[in-house]
Amino acid sequence: MELKVACIGAGCAGTSHMLRMEKYQPGCCIAFSDIDRSNFDRIVAGYLDTGDTRTAGDLKTEAFELRPGFRDLPFYTDPEEMLQKEDINTVIIASYCSHHAAAVETCVRHGVNILLEKPIAITREDVRQVWELLRDYPKVTVVNLSLRGSPVSETARRHILNGDIGRIVSVQYVNNVHYGDNYFRRWMRTRQNVGSLLLQKATHDLDLINYFTGLKPEAVAAFGSRQVYGGDMPDDLTCDACERRMLCPMSIYRRKLDASRPLPGSSTRLCVYAREIDIDDNQVLVIRYEGGVTASYSQTFNAPHHGGQRGGYFIGTEGIMDFRFYGDFEEHPDTGAYVKGASTIRITRFNDRPGSYTEEVHDWANVGHFGSAENLAQGLISLLQGGESPMNASIREGYISAVMCLAAQESIETSKVIDIRQDI
Ligand SMILES: NC(=O)c1ccc[n+]([C@@H]2O[C@H](COP(=O)([O-])OP(=O)(O)OC[C@H]3O[C@@H](n4cnc5c(N)ncnc54)[C@H](O)[C@@H]3O)[C@@H](O)[C@H]2O)c1
Repeated sequence: MELKVACIGAGCAGTSHMLRMEKYQPGCCIAFSDIDRSNFDRIVAGYLDTGDTRTAGDLKTEAFELRPGFRDLPFYTDPEEMLQKEDINTVIIASYCSHHAAAVETCVRHGVNILLEKPIAITREDVRQVWELLRDYPKVTVVNLSLRGSPVSETARRHILNGDIGRIVSVQYVNNVHYGDNYFRRWMRTRQNVGSLLLQKATHDLDLINYFTGLKPEAVAAFGSRQVYGGDMPDDLTCDACERRMLCPMSIYRRKLDASRPLPGSSTRLCVYAREIDIDDNQVLVIRYEGGVTASYSQTFNAPHHGGQRGGYFIGTEGIMDFRFYGDFEEHPDTGAYVKGASTIRITRFNDRPGSYTEEVHDWANVGHFGSAENLAQGLISLLQGGESPMNASIREGYISAVMCLAAQESIETSKVIDIRQDI
């Protein structure tokens, strides 16, 4: 099948997906739709003119020989009009999370294949609607749960499938986000836009626990609160325009100045103490899986730059797998690119000699998202060409992870354990 790709929401994620598809299938991108084309123009200029690809964000693809005509792709403010006028068979949905359900509805009416960014939607009604629309949809549909596909994830999953730690008994997983302030400097800081940081962040990790263990979640209980961000500052205040820009400990102006790095764009340097911030910045979940298997998950958005952690212990009847996306890393002093960094897996087994364990190191220096994005793009292309790719999340997997996040939020608000068996 000849790929004819369009995008709805051509910001960091959407434009990065288009660029990556273009890298593997040159000429496949046909058009894009957004309420404002400036993100697309800025990111594409990084590839075609300046060589600075930083504005593409963490899903960016490495620089490659992009056709100059890419910047002139037909642009529409209305996705419906785009799908009526252009010959398109595959759509990337990467608009704001609150718009995903409407975009899915438009795409389904036009019968196109869909790459849907996570979370699949952010309200209970929209999550249900997306699930109803796509559960039996005959076209290819994948959800971009992008921690899958990294070499370390695929290896860890294989260890569990191989029985290297026996039958899974419990999981203890942590995500201490060392760039957590970024979420509070941009549109992702309100319930209206993202629902919660569970839907925005934990959705990846919960999916990974489901994916690794192959188990069905049955019930979720959670606590959460906002401890650090939010306050009384104006919603449109940016650090560079603030009188406390050299004194405030969260000033991105001062932080970048001290590091001799350029300021991020104005829509991503908003004050983290703004009035409109109404989402929690730390959450703790406990989950019961089928067969009585238990899991804990906690996330905080206030880890220092070199104090982040993402991963956990997978505990089996025959041993423990200590799984870490990252430990020490090193950034390029000018570009901020990760020039050193690796993921690790360490397996310790009951019947090994006391000093024995196996350790694996997966280097991800200079590649985004722990090396997952390129593998997932190739997996998607394989699916679109009639092949297989279990590493790309299905709509069912995206739905289950969204249901878990909604249940956790409900538990936080009601102090109740939420049974999700009837939803999935
Ligand atoms: N899988 C991942 O690892 C990952 C990483 C980053 C972002 N995301 C997801 O991608 C989506 C976009 O995030 P981002 O970081 O690229 O944000 P962004 O702000 O860079 O891009 C979002 C784009 O959507 C556009 N948009 C908003 N409403 C729209 C509408 N009604 N119609 C068309 N376009 C619209 C905006 O103008 C903007 O250009 C979010 O759902 C986010 O959760 C996923």
